[in-house]
Amino acid sequence: MARVDPDVSKVSILGSESIILGFHLTEYIIRDVLTSIPASNYILITDTNLAPLYLSNYTECFKRVSRELSEKNGNAKEPRLFTRVLPPGELTKSRKTKDEIEDWLLSNSVTRDTCFLAMGGGVIGDLIGFVAATFMRGVPFVQIPTTLLAMVDSSIGGKTAIDTPAGKNLIGAFWQPKRIFMDLIFLQSLPEREFANGMAEVVKTAAIWNESDFVKLETGVDAVREAVLNSNPTVSLQGAKLETRTEEQALLLDVILASARVKAEVVTNDEREGGLRGLLNFGHSIGHGIEALVSPLMLHGECVSIGIIKEAELSRNLGHLSQVAVGRLARCLSSYGLPITLDEKKVKDRIGNMHCNVDDIMQVMKVDKKNQGDKKRIVLLSAIGNTLEKRASIVSDADIYKVLGPEQLVLPVTESAHGPLKEVTLTTPGSKSISNRALLIAALGQGTVRITNLLHSDDTQYMLAALQSLNAADFEWEDNGDTLVVHGGGGRLAVPEKEVYVGNAGTASRFLTSVLTMIPKVEKNQPSVAILTGNARMKQRPIEPLVKALTSNGAQIKSIEKEGFLPVAVTPSGGFKGGRIELAASISSQYVSSILLCAPYAVEPVELVLVGGQVISQPYIDMTIAMMEEFGITIERLENNTYKIQQGVYKNPDHYIVESDASSATYPLAIAAITGTTCTVTSIGSKSLQGDATFAVNVLRPMGCVVRQTETSTTVTGPQLGENITRITGIANQRVKECNRIAAMVHELTKFGVVASELPDGIQIHGKPIKELKAPKEGVHCYDDHRIAMSFSVLACIVPHGTIIQEKKCVEKTWPTWWDDLEHKIGARINGVDLGKKKGQVSNVLGRVNNNLNKMDNQKSIVIIGMRGVGKTTLGQHAAETLGFQFVDVDQHFEKVQDITIFDFINTWGWEKFRVKEAETLRELLSNPQYHRNYIISCGGGIVEPEKSRAVLKDYCRQGGKVLHLVRDMDQVASYLNRDKTRPMYGEDMMSVWKRRRGWYREACNFEFVAHADSLVEGGWVSPSDWMAIKKDLQRFLLFITGRQTNHVDIKPGCIGAPTTFVALTMKDLNAHQDRLVEICEGANAVELRVDLLKQPEEDKQKGLKSYTEFIGEQLAILRRIVPIPVVFTVRSKGQAGTFSDDDEKGMFELLRWGQRWGCEYIDVEMCWSNTAIEDVFANKGESKILASWHDVRRQTPWGSTALEARYETADKYGDIIKLVGIAQSMDDNISLEAYRKEKSNGKPLIAINMGAAGQLSRVLNETLTPTSHPALPHKAAPGQLSLAEINTTRHLLGLLPFRKFWLIGTPIQHSMSPTLHNTGFKALGLPHYYGLLECHMVDYAEEALQKDPEFGGASVTIPHKVNIMKYLDHVNESAKIIGAVNTVFIRYEENEDGSLERKLIGENTDYLGIMRRVQPLMQDPASPPEEGLVLGSGGTARAAIYALYSMGIKKIYLWNRTTSKAQELKQAFGSICDVTVLESLENAKIDPGVIISTVPAESGLELPAHIYGGIKGIICDMAYKPRRTKLLLQAFRKGWSCVEGIEVLISQGIAQFEIWTGKPAPAHRIEEEVLRKYEL
Ligand SMILES: NC(=O)c1ccc[n+]([C@@H]2O[C@H](COP(=O)([O-])OP(=O)(O)OC[C@H]3O[C@@H](n4cnc5c(N)ncnc54)[C@H](O)[C@@H]3O)[C@@H](O)[C@H]2O)c1
Ligand SMILES: [Zn+2]
Repeated sequence: MARVDPDVSKVSILGSESIILGFHLTEYIIRDVLTSIPASNYILITDTNLAPLYLSNYTECFKRVSRELSEKNGNAKEPRLFTRVLPPGELTKSRKTKDEIEDWLLSNSVTRDTCFLAMGGGVIGDLIGFVAATFMRGVPFVQIPTTLLAMVDSSIGGKTAIDTPAGKNLIGAFWQPKRIFMDLIFLQSLPEREFANGMAEVVKTAAIWNESDFVKLETGVDAVREAVLNSNPTVSLQGAKLETRTEEQALLLDVILASARVKAEVVTNDEREGGLRGLLNFGHSIGHGIEALVSPLMLHGECVSIGIIKEAELSRNLGHLSQVAVGRLARCLSSYGLPITLDEKKVKDRIGNMHCNVDDIMQVMKVDKKNQGDKKRIVLLSAIGNTLEKRASIVSDADIYKVLGPEQLVLPVTESAHGPLKEVTLTTPGSKSISNRALLIAALGQGTVRITNLLHSDDTQYMLAALQSLNAADFEWEDNGDTLVVHGGGGRLAVPEKEVYVGNAGTASRFLTSVLTMIPKVEKNQPSVAILTGNARMKQRPIEPLVKALTSNGAQIKSIEKEGFLPVAVTPSGGFKGGRIELAASISSQYVSSILLCAPYAVEPVELVLVGGQVISQPYIDMTIAMMEEFGITIERLENNTYKIQQGVYKNPDHYIVESDASSATYPLAIAAITGTTCTVTSIGSKSLQGDATFAVNVLRPMGCVVRQTETSTTVTGPQLGENITRITGIANQRVKECNRIAAMVHELTKFGVVASELPDGIQIHGKPIKELKAPKEGVHCYDDHRIAMSFSVLACIVPHGTIIQEKKCVEKTWPTWWDDLEHKIGARINGVDLGKKKGQVSNVLGRVNNNLNKMDNQKSIVIIGMRGVGKTTLGQHAAETLGFQFVDVDQHFEKVQDITIFDFINTWGWEKFRVKEAETLRELLSNPQYHRNYIISCGGGIVEPEKSRAVLKDYCRQGGKVLHLVRDMDQVASYLNRDKTRPMYGEDMMSVWKRRRGWYREACNFEFVAHADSLVEGGWVSPSDWMAIKKDLQRFLLFITGRQTNHVDIKPGCIGAPTTFVALTMKDLNAHQDRLVEICEGANAVELRVDLLKQPEEDKQKGLKSYTEFIGEQLAILRRIVPIPVVFTVRSKGQAGTFSDDDEKGMFELLRWGQRWGCEYIDVEMCWSNTAIEDVFANKGESKILASWHDVRRQTPWGSTALEARYETADKYGDIIKLVGIAQSMDDNISLEAYRKEKSNGKPLIAINMGAAGQLSRVLNETLTPTSHPALPHKAAPGQLSLAEINTTRHLLGLLPFRKFWLIGTPIQHSMSPTLHNTGFKALGLPHYYGLLECHMVDYAEEALQKDPEFGGASVTIPHKVNIMKYLDHVNESAKIIGAVNTVFIRYEENEDGSLERKLIGENTDYLGIMRRVQPLMQDPASPPEEGLVLGSGGTARAAIYALYSMGIKKIYLWNRTTSKAQELKQAFGSICDVTVLESLENAKIDPGVIISTVPAESGLELPAHIYGGIKGIICDMAYKPRRTKLLLQAFRKGWSCVEGIEVLISQGIAQFEIWTGKPAPAHRIEEEVLRKYEL
């Protein structure tokens, strides 16, 4: 191939023209480098994404050219070329890579005589720049940027850096490259997202520097993308020479050149970051704050894009920038595929529902070295292309908060510094309807018109873009975008090249449908079909009557997808025919306006006849007619809804002011009304045709305001305030707007303490003195409805102390600058607020924030569905109690609303009608704000029958609601229902009903609870003990899914329980192993259900009653019933060392979704599946944590390899915990694993182990959730798996788990059970510790052991030292203080200021815990404990007993002692803590205790008077433990009470001690067995 000498552009930086741009520069670059930077060694470094595409070209070219040059110059020696390919990604910018490169060069004897070539993105550029800066004290280097970001940003300016665990770019140097070559050909292989990433910087640069560059970007989107994406050149080396360069290529070069030039100029004038360079930080201050929270899920440029908009909004709020400019920035960025807010779907998809709290963003900004105190440096724009100052400006935190906060706090105007502004004049935003009409008419008109007060919204933007693409007129902007100049085309139209897209803009879509039919017949070789389309929502909005009318008039319109809906294709067939047109106008007046607007251009005069009954929204039709007349076209109104339109061309006036939106104008006028001030709104007056223009006259005047109206302005002065009842009626249509506005207003007003209620077609409100209004703490909920937000900001102007308005962004629909105007023009004071969760409040994706798909709302109502007879009512009511919710039964609600019993309804109307009505009832219930939060809504069994109801339920899930499916064993339900004759039977066999519905229930729910009963008692009933257990399971489940108690394992580094472990179950069927589960789970922090190992029994399968999923659900329920620890839900695939099919991704993720629905605490997700599948589990994770796992079964990703790094990155992205498993063949594999573990020690919690016997050491050293086996399991889940005891023993031998001594201090203690208790526990878990007796009469004898012995681990303390031991302790816990005695001593290490650890002795009392642990599980519902409790005796134990009752939530505590005075003393001690009543005598006591605790010695033979046992069957606990069943217990037992023996409490308090000392769950079962065995001896 002949050599082509490419045409290049050059940019000068720091005095030399060293930036060179062009296309196909490979050879150019090599020649230039070899001649102008002579060296003996050239080091070309790139990454693995680029190497396969470009590297061989470069090496080949280097060889050829260097030989040629050496020969030419007669050099004997050709220079050497070294190449190295690094892994891609930010992780490569590390010290480690730098070391490796340096060592590699040194080992190749590379000397000072060297030049580096960095070919890659910013990562390669930054890293290699820094290597060059320090190698041999600095050698020359050349940048060959290959990403857009690198071209326009990172390669220019000489900043080089690497990252450290503490942060990005912290180590580096200023080191200028000798050359920067931008070969734009690289961009063709750049992924689209990376291209957009760079565009953010390009847009930023234009925005601060040069408006005409910005205009190029705004208008050149398609061309720029074309240049990059079209990799199909027609000429070889296309673009290298100017002659072959396409227009698009030229534009692309132009855009990059402009951006690079600005950066070069700024750097030249301010090489080391004085002030000017700070301008390039536009969008970055806030952008960085966001990036720190969401990286790496989002790219730098994406965060900067959002930052640009936020910082622009800040400029606007401060009064420096117009809304038009903000809008232009936003549209430009999004047109390049960049996000502009954190709320958009694209962003949510990336980051889950992580909430970026403003405080967290501000925290990051604070750390930035350029910021100080409560002020930040931010670049403020004054216009597109101009900044306010020639450096970053200083802005207060409060102002930043105002733009960032998702909620707005509006303070009453009376509290603003100058009081309310007495007189306000403002122009409110233009009307959307008028804007759209004006645009269309002006474009079709003749002459030039300047339009002002145009509404800048998506709607009008789409209209404008459509008219442009139809070539209907020429448009330009004046006055910084405030004036739109339209050079009317007089009716010219052409088929657009692309389809016309109108988003969800209703008006635009209807108007344009008719406009397209006006296009004249096309010439040959021109596009011949015009297509109009919109977004998904738009495609559901009907246009059929319009299309029908146009078609019957001869137009050729075809619906492409669904008949009567967008998209439509119009084939021009000679323009709009005209004549008589009939149109059904009962659905939308927009159809009418659409035809009216086009009618003047018809071939024959149009006579439009509206047919089909009532014409809707006549005022809008009148508006259209009036506007057409203003533009010179007259319309005759005939009888019977008929209009005759004059033929002609619109005549554009010189100037047209779009009337303000009358609805928007009502808000400032209302503010004047309620604050007693005066407000004038210009450009809306008596001449207006908008309905709401009469608001002042018809609404405010009767309420006592003074109203003055001219043709074009309205002024309102508010009156003194009254307290009347206001009834607003005739507004039933407000129920079907953005939300049910009547219900919403009532609900929100009530929060202010205002009495308000719904009327059938309106609302009634009782006036109230202003000072009595109370703003709701959590703020006003706006239902994403701009009208609600604006209405409540009106009210907020007077409510004392300020009102928080949630979802403040919703106002942008009609008044983007509402908050700015409220503040600056009306005079309210405003602060930003963020009510969302802060970093660390709830852990999430990145261990930072909460992640539910929809903003987690734990108060959100829960809908319960399920078959009849599964317990929806009983369990539903229990759920309501547990969560503090109200309970509502949809059936009952139905009967109430319909005023007829369901039975009668069905008899009268039949089932089908009933189902329809039932679905309606549910929908209404769920859309009524009253029921949005704090309700359990229980549905009838058949609710899922009609598809409509299922859709309602699914929608509810999608909106972040919870739909809970309750299931039980259907056999059991059947036998129950067959017994219960009181319930109406199904018309058909229950099993077939179930078979039909089961799938429906499951598709409609996002949670499922399996109510598992072991067996039934007589009559088909669930046994009481099973019920109790089910309720407790449900309680745990609810607390979990609502995030109140998530039961996750504490895996904070350095916690005393390390290592934490989970035991991996390997049985086929848990049912058969129920009795061993407790033992197997001993000491484990969690248990893993290996779903892939479970096998549904054949007979079960054959019966066909239980699906495989149902079988798994039941297995889980069995496990839950037996062990309380968290569950890891794992489906291990074959390729990842399990048994599940490797090819069934769908099946795998269905199962995982079930794990989430069942509320498993951890879901193991293998990183070998597709990202889309993983993202789906991720998006639905709720409170479940994701254990992102990777098993290297084939030894392809060794520790420390790049291949593993990629897995790590994926795991890091999606997992809360990362699990990496290798296979060890020798000890070396463990050593590399440990190095790896250390390297990742600052990352997310990591489980890293090696399988196989050789890998056992890694299982011992792993500290987070090590998977373990247990001798009682059928087999190990993985080769080399160890038991917890084995791990602990080995850790001890390795010195990781030092031996500790524990003592029992007291006397007499010879017969104590404690040594047996603790030593059994130590042994069972393989702990090396020892527990012994330290008998002493004086506590001082224990001093040595407590304070001097380094092996001391803790102590139990008993009589007589429980009080005087305190003198040796550094700290006594609250509970022990109140009880007045210490029975447990333990050690904690506290960190001093200098970081050293100090050993502290701490006192605790576990006696009360012992009581609680036994009594609480016997309660029907621990959440609502009995009202009264009774304690017998008043010694030390009685104190613990009182404290236990108090801690369990028992309000009324009675105390009895034979000597009343002692009881009185005890009462005194608890005086301020709880209500203790001393009983003089038991005989006369009128009490009704639900819990009794006796602390009197067994020898006393105490029995209670029978009435004390009362009617209820309570729980009694006797602290005396010899004999096991005291006389008192026997008596209570006969009365039907549940009994707790003293020995049981003793064991439980000991277990509590054990757990405090070791930080591990005690092997309670084993301990209890052993202690009781010893006790019986
Ligand atoms: N020095 C500075 O002044 C400065 C300024 C901004 C950013 N930075 C740094 O730049 C880095 C980000 O740079 P980046 O966005 O270029 O990221 P990058 O270097 O990681 O490149 C992005 C991805 O695109 C791939 N890629 C690069 N060129 C390609 C091509 N032509 N075809 C196909 N794939 C290609 C890369 O392999 C990589 O996977 C960050 O480390 C940041 O700190 C530095
Ligand atoms: Zn940047």
